[in-house]
Amino acid sequence: MASPERFRAFRLHQDAPGAPVAGRFVTQAHDELPPGELLVRVAYTSINYKDALAAAGLNQIVRQYPRTGGIDFSGRVEHSSDPRFAPGDAVVVHGFGVGVDHDGGHAEFARVRADWALALPEGLTLLEAATLGAAGYTAALCVHWMEHNGLAPGGLPVVVTGATGGVASVAIDILAGRGHEVVAVSGKGDADGYLRALGAATVLDTSVAVPSGRPLDKGQWAGAVDSVGGEMLAWLLRSAAPDAVLTSLGNAGGAELHTTVLPLILRGVRLIGINANSPMALRRTVWARLAGDLRPRHLARIARMTAFDQLPEAMARMRERATRGRLVVAMA
Ligand SMILES: NC(=O)c1ccc[n+]([C@@H]2O[C@H](COP(=O)([O-])OP(=O)(O)OC[C@H]3O[C@@H](n4cnc5c(N)ncnc54)[C@H](OP(=O)(O)O)[C@@H]3O)[C@@H](O)[C@H]2O)c1
Repeated sequence: MASPERFRAFRLHQDAPGAPVAGRFVTQAHDELPPGELLVRVAYTSINYKDALAAAGLNQIVRQYPRTGGIDFSGRVEHSSDPRFAPGDAVVVHGFGVGVDHDGGHAEFARVRADWALALPEGLTLLEAATLGAAGYTAALCVHWMEHNGLAPGGLPVVVTGATGGVASVAIDILAGRGHEVVAVSGKGDADGYLRALGAATVLDTSVAVPSGRPLDKGQWAGAVDSVGGEMLAWLLRSAAPDAVLTSLGNAGGAELHTTVLPLILRGVRLIGINANSPMALRRTVWARLAGDLRPRHLARIARMTAFDQLPEAMARMRERATRGRLVVAMA
């Protein structure tokens, strides 16, 4: 491991405007980190879809280079100039532009604003917090808002799309643990065993989401967690049961949405947009639930431990849709 003064980071570079973005491992000094009240020794970070896209310069996620990616991490405070935190405190950090506009967790140390750090909720380890990360928080936020809008176990199934992905894997685990019947939709032909082990009752292939030519299909779902968007979300809207609550959180399959208002006005379907970059008060509530009543039961199965040195290859595999679960990187 690097000395406390110098540490390893995976930095994204773009040598000229419009040139390809390339990542490389570098050694940095603490005084090269951006400003912030907390210096954190990163224990675990992860790879989210957004990290994988950013590392390839896609979707204009990062606009200023060089940049250390990694939109989430857990670790211990090494130094604090804010009275709310002391050295040794365990924290989890995601959002607020970390890993995008501000250097993130793909490094042995990170410096962040104290306002962005959440004290690790009691009952979660640093590894569990990073396995959850931004993805687990997003999954829990979907369940939180669906239940707030009336979703209750015992009714029609809840459908989870992009099912082997990080957000979706955690969502399946949480929903099944709450007693919901979960239908998983995946494009991976060999994912049945993994998805059933997380609690999915049924696994469907993504070919279910082809356009039907009708504004409404048979209403089948009480809720949905959609990572995919595009045709998938249009299908979810058409096939949602009366008063269903759908959450839209991702666009892995496309950002466009071609649909009609009929599911909304004839069936009272509620479509809720999810943005995980929530205010801190909501984060505290939802993270406390992740450590409590929404705690996933299969985090160890969802975590795929990935060596820091393998970061570029793992991000490439994620862009090729060849990963499943949460890719967790141990830094210590
Ligand atoms: N709104 C927010 O605040 C928020 C927070 C976190 C993530 N997100 C977004 O949510 C999505 C999922 O994130 P993640 O970190 O869970 O990603 P991930 O681990 O890569 O999972 C995405 C899953 O979507 C499916 N997929 C991938 N490419 C696809 C394609 N071209 N067409 C259809 N399905 C495809 C795959 O599942 P199968 O192979 O099983 O079908 C894949 O495992 C991303 O779009 C991400 O940017 C948004």
